[in-house]
Amino acid sequence: MTAAATSPSARPGRFGRAIVVGASSGIGAAIARRLAAGGTAVALVGRREAELESVAGAIRTAGGRALVARHDVTDYADVPATFERLVSELGGLDLIVYAAGTMHVPEEGEYDFAKDRAMIEVNLLGAMAWLNLAAARFEACRGGTIVGISSIAGERGRRTMPGYTTSKAALTAWLEALRNRVSRHGVNVVTVKPGFVDTVMTRHLARKPMIISAERAADLILEAACRGGSPSTFVPGRWGLVAFVLRHIPSFLFRKLDL
Ligand SMILES: NC(=O)c1ccc[n+]([C@@H]2O[C@H](COP(=O)([O-])OP(=O)(O)OC[C@H]3O[C@@H](n4cnc5c(N)ncnc54)[C@H](OP(=O)(O)O)[C@@H]3O)[C@@H](O)[C@H]2O)c1
Repeated sequence: MTAAATSPSARPGRFGRAIVVGASSGIGAAIARRLAAGGTAVALVGRREAELESVAGAIRTAGGRALVARHDVTDYADVPATFERLVSELGGLDLIVYAAGTMHVPEEGEYDFAKDRAMIEVNLLGAMAWLNLAAARFEACRGGTIVGISSIAGERGRRTMPGYTTSKAALTAWLEALRNRVSRHGVNVVTVKPGFVDTVMTRHLARKPMIISAERAADLILEAACRGGSPSTFVPGRWGLVAFVLRHIPSFLFRKLDL
């Protein structure tokens, strides 16, 4: 296998080497497990080393190949060295998934800059730090797939979670711009917008309509990654209809909704 990225159109449904940022739990861990089960060598990135090692251990026990990198995505200066080390250890790169994310739902009357900033730093700036490096590499190699996990929450500015919705709306816009830069070089950028997924992140939420498991989300996300082409994918697809309706609710009505 060469160090050049492998185009998914040349090997449909199959990535040789992948980095998953935010692989210690939830959707990222499920994606890493699914990739490894399909024969992909995966590098797992996150802060909680024990959880990363647990995911990697299960992959190795099942016969797969997994590397672990303990890394905080807000340590932006550390990203280039970590990225290069993982690409070198994997022997190249075909796919990167940015799944790292954090969500704080403020209380009524709570306006907390530090918590808003934390979400922007992880959900948006961390993605930019990691995915710019991947974009440059894939552009030079003329192929590769970038998956960014945004959210249905980024479709409108919601009164219940201003910082989170802003981080995801900005991530969606940035991924679109990235796609528009690199698609001419044969690079796929896939924006994924899940609805509710059963993970630690959603455990405290009271209402979770149409919730799916992390494993089901991982399958749908990897299907979208293999397909490439479509600008953004709702997970599952029926959230696309919800998004359409949400986008067309007039502001004066939307602000009355407890969303
Ligand atoms: N669950 C849902 O309903 C839902 C819906 C739409 C979108 N999403 C998005 O899906 C993605 C995955 O979330 P999840 O539901 O699977 O939640 P999760 O289980 O809490 O996973 C979040 C992941 O992000 C990593 N992470 C958080 N802060 C980090 C940091 N500073 N540095 C490195 N890694 C960091 C965590 O690893 P460490 O803690 O080990 O660092 C963990 O692996 C997020 O972007 C989330 O916004 C989730």
